[in-house]
Amino acid sequence: MSNGTLLRELRESDAERVFEQATDPLTVEFTPVPVPYTRSDALDYITAARVAAEAGTEHVFAIDHGGRFGGSCSLRVIGPHRAEVGYGLHPDARGRGLATAALNEILRFGWEDLDLRQVTWRAKVGNTASLVIAQRVGFRVRDELGTLRQRGEEVPAWRATLKRSWHIC
Ligand SMILES: CC(C)(COP(=O)(O)OP(=O)(O)OC[C@H]1O[C@@H](n2cnc3c(N)ncnc32)[C@H](O)[C@@H]1OP(=O)(O)O)[C@@H](O)C(=O)NCCC(=O)NCCS
Repeated sequence: MSNGTLLRELRESDAERVFEQATDPLTVEFTPVPVPYTRSDALDYITAARVAAEAGTEHVFAIDHGGRFGGSCSLRVIGPHRAEVGYGLHPDARGRGLATAALNEILRFGWEDLDLRQVTWRAKVGNTASLVIAQRVGFRVRDELGTLRQRGEEVPAWRATLKRSWHIC
C-alpha cells in the first residue's frame, strides 16, 4: 500500500470476520456476495485476493478497525488505466467514517501506484449510505443508471465516474 495507514493486505486470520461481514443482511442486500456463504468461502476469498493482486487484475485490501479486520476495499481493473471500486464494512465498524477514509486511501493508491485515470463506482439503487460516501470523495452521481449483477440477477444501479485529472495537478 502507498502512504496510507488504514488499508493492509488480507490475512487468513481475517477469515472469521470476513465470514461475519459476508453473512450480514446489509452486505447480502447490496453486494453480489454468494448466498449461502461458508467459512471456506471466506478463506477462498482471501486466497483469490492474493492471486488477483499478483495477476494485477484486482487489488483488495482489508480495512483496519482498531487492529481487527473492519471490512474490505478493492479496485478491480476493467481496462487500461481504468478500475471499478468496491467496499463494505463489517457491521461493528460502521457509522465511524471508516469507509470514506478507506475510499480516499484506495483512490490515492489507484492514481499514484496503479496509474489509473478513471475509477467507476456503482451501487444498487437505494444504497444511500454508499451514495453519501461516494459523493464525499468526489464522485458526481447524476441521473446515470446502470445495472449490477447480483446472484444471477441484473438489478438497477447508480453509476458514477471519477477522473484523475480532478485530483492531481
Ligand atoms: C456502505 C457502507 C460501507 C457504509 O458504511 P458507513 O461508513 O458506516 O456508513 P454510515 O452508515 O455511517 O453512512 C454514511 C453516511 O450516510 C448517511 N446515510 C446513511 N443512510 C442514509 C439515508 N438513508 N439517508 C440519508 N443519509 C444516509 C449516514 O448518516 C452517514 O452520514 P454521517 O457520516 O454524516 O453520519 C456500509 O453500510 C456497508 O458495509 N454496507 C454493505 C455493503 C455495501 O453496501 N457496500 C457498498 C456497495 S456499493
